[in-house]
Amino acid sequence: MTAKPTKDELRLLSSRDRLLHLIYTQQLSRGLLEDLFVVAEKARGMYASGIGATFLQNCLPNKRALLYFVQPSTRTFLSFQSAAEILGISTARVTSTSTSSEAKGETPLDTVHVFAMYHDLIVMRYPEAGFASKCAQYFRERDLPKHIINGGSGMDQHPTQALLDVYTLHREFYRKGGIDGKRILVAGDLARGRAVRSLIYLLSKFEDVKMDLVAPASLGLHDDIKEHMHENEMPFRESENLMDFIGEADAVYMTRVQDEYDDVEPGGELDYDRFSLTPASLDAMSPNCAILHPLPRRSEIPVSVDSDSRARYWEQVENGMWARVALIAHVLECDLRIKTA
Ligand code: NCD
Repeated sequence: MTAKPTKDELRLLSSRDRLLHLIYTQQLSRGLLEDLFVVAEKARGMYASGIGATFLQNCLPNKRALLYFVQPSTRTFLSFQSAAEILGISTARVTSTSTSSEAKGETPLDTVHVFAMYHDLIVMRYPEAGFASKCAQYFRERDLPKHIINGGSGMDQHPTQALLDVYTLHREFYRKGGIDGKRILVAGDLARGRAVRSLIYLLSKFEDVKMDLVAPASLGLHDDIKEHMHENEMPFRESENLMDFIGEADAVYMTRVQDEYDDVEPGGELDYDRFSLTPASLDAMSPNCAILHPLPRRSEIPVSVDSDSRARYWEQVENGMWARVALIAHVLECDLRIKTA
């Protein structure tokens, strides 16, 4: 895991109230989150009409974005590409270091420097936890007015997934008192799931949110996030069995076992049923509970749950695109135009 970013490091990633780069989930304040939700709602409403869609298309026609995704991705990649296109930004993609000059021995920072000469924004999914942050520092030292958004950094962080997860919860609880005070259960691979790690950071920005953590002992949440919960007085309970807490949850966030990292930290033989939705756990769940998942899912949510009125994971995908529209509009400074249109 990466070291916790210092206050100074976080400060240098913004200029006044505006993010220059989004590298860490910790950069998203509650005020900014609420502002992004307003822009996301406004943009999706506008897009429904031809005139509104054309307005959005004309927001950033002179900007270019590179999607530099060297870890597998379809939904996050397409979500960013669609979000950029909605705002009139043209996009290019690089999906492997073997097709860039890194294969000829170029340093990763030189490679990104070249990308920045052609593009205003680089959305980056990279296996090394600290790389996006290194790039932001590199741009700062060279006064390059370019932006980076972290689209997933190894096992560490996935701030835009957390943003869309919280946006989904915001929409869900909008008429039910908001996210404050809710009890959220997260289940699965809490050790290596960057999406769930980032989500907990973000939920700590709300008042009185209570967490229930359900994971096999070998894949429990790491101490860095537990310390963060302690520091933010965020109560949590832990169990290895979903049935222990599921009846009390306002939302259940299921995750996949991240076995692509098994050579790093073996997950071992697991009884997946204890971390999967079963007829018994669905029966125990409240009728108003929302079921979320960052996707891709495996057996932790059987396909039969798709028709359950509590399933929100498909809407969550769509919400992701609008949350990213709002974020890109913020970073590239056209959010006010959208809000006041
Ligand atoms: C997540 C990821 O890549 O971290 N997926 C995503 O971005 N929607 C979760 C996962 O891979 O399990």
